[in-house]
Amino acid sequence: MLKDFSVKDVLRVPEGGEVELLGWVRNKRAHGGLIFIDLRDGTGVIQVAVKRGQLPDECFRAAEELRRESAIKVRGIVTRDPRAPNGVEIRCRDLKVISQSMDDYPIKRGIKVKFILDNRHLHIRSPRVSAIMKIRAALLDAARKWFQEHGFIEIHCPSFITAAVEGGATLFKVDYFGRDVYLTQSSQFYQEAAIYSLERVYSIQPSFRAELSRTRRHLTEFWHLEAEIAYAELEDLLKIIEELFYAMVLGVTESAHGELELLKVKVNPDVAKPPYPRIRYSEALEILRGKGFKIEWGEDLGADEERELSKDFEKPFFVTHWPREAKAFYHMPDPSDPSVCRNADLLTPGGFGEVIGGGQRIHDYNQLLERIREEGLNPEDYKWYLDLRRFGTIPHSGFGLGVERMLWWLLKLEHIRDACLFPRTPARVYP
Ligand code: 4AD
Ligand code: MG
Repeated sequence: MLKDFSVKDVLRVPEGGEVELLGWVRNKRAHGGLIFIDLRDGTGVIQVAVKRGQLPDECFRAAEELRRESAIKVRGIVTRDPRAPNGVEIRCRDLKVISQSMDDYPIKRGIKVKFILDNRHLHIRSPRVSAIMKIRAALLDAARKWFQEHGFIEIHCPSFITAAVEGGATLFKVDYFGRDVYLTQSSQFYQEAAIYSLERVYSIQPSFRAELSRTRRHLTEFWHLEAEIAYAELEDLLKIIEELFYAMVLGVTESAHGELELLKVKVNPDVAKPPYPRIRYSEALEILRGKGFKIEWGEDLGADEERELSKDFEKPFFVTHWPREAKAFYHMPDPSDPSVCRNADLLTPGGFGEVIGGGQRIHDYNQLLERIREEGLNPEDYKWYLDLRRFGTIPHSGFGLGVERMLWWLLKLEHIRDACLFPRTPARVYP
């Protein structure tokens, strides 16, 4: 019973054509002898008019009994009707119940956020969630296409790791047959190994952060789009990020207008057109101090700081040259001012903030060893990572983009969890 005809196809059927459709009852309204069913499938929603006398009696009675989200098959005539939600309805001639819902469907208007989150496995059937997930897929399609066109190879890295990439404070510990290992925070180190084999690599896979921060932009499990590029220096990296980011935004606006319209979101791709403004960390600090923030040199920017800073910008913008104490040990100190590094975060405008973190890596063995020691880390834990600097080491750079962060900004979502099918936050690992 594989489907070969969907709701989206109905719109292309001429007036009076007969169609057969499988779907779910999203809503039902009865007016005596006339029942309207909003029939939903993976491609959209269409109104089905079920009128007594126009189909076998037992079918009409079955329609009367239907509960929301029951699975049905309808056959009917396509009719243009300006009163129907998308100007078309199906006048039902036959209706078969594939499976009647066992209960009243619990997701309705006016229910509390917690209830919706507890019932996410059902709530994801809503057209709004479907639209977000389709846009998410379009975003990653566009990224993959861009990477392919620019000589990048997709790789897949492990999720169990033995040493921190982004600091020990946010590591999730796992009992690995009696041994302590961790869930990965970033595939960066494996990508750095892989560039010596493939030169330009990317990966799209989950990263984990044991971050208790209950903000609108933190997840404990997120999808991380990362890339690493042999021979790239900071300047090259920023250009790559700009082009990729633009291609992703453009990809969504080109392939998902229906979904954007459904969400009532307007995305003007010009907003993401390179070049992006660049400020140094020291300038960001000045701007923030001017706004009354008390931040010491060397501190990382928090959610509040980023929100305020990003309100001054119309486009995504880079904050470059962060102090070494603000970021992880692998960032390359700038030879012209070693108190800062050759790195950059990409912040999105309008109160959103960081979506990408990246920079040039230390490729000199002794310098890396020194930074590892300086941070109080054990060089033994980074033995293989150091080894990469012993055999044909070269300059290289890379970055990581939070997929949900990007969607959060692009779609102006209330909360980052709305960008996930099944979000993981400190308070939630169910369903
Ligand atoms: O800035 P971060 O920590 O950088 C890294 O992990 C680098 N190793 C990446 C690299 O250079 N290959 O994380 C990168 C991005 C952030 O800019 C943010 O978009 C996202 O990952 N991110 C999170 N997204 C959701 N919830 C969290 N808790 C996140 N932590 C980071
Ligand atoms: Mg960061």
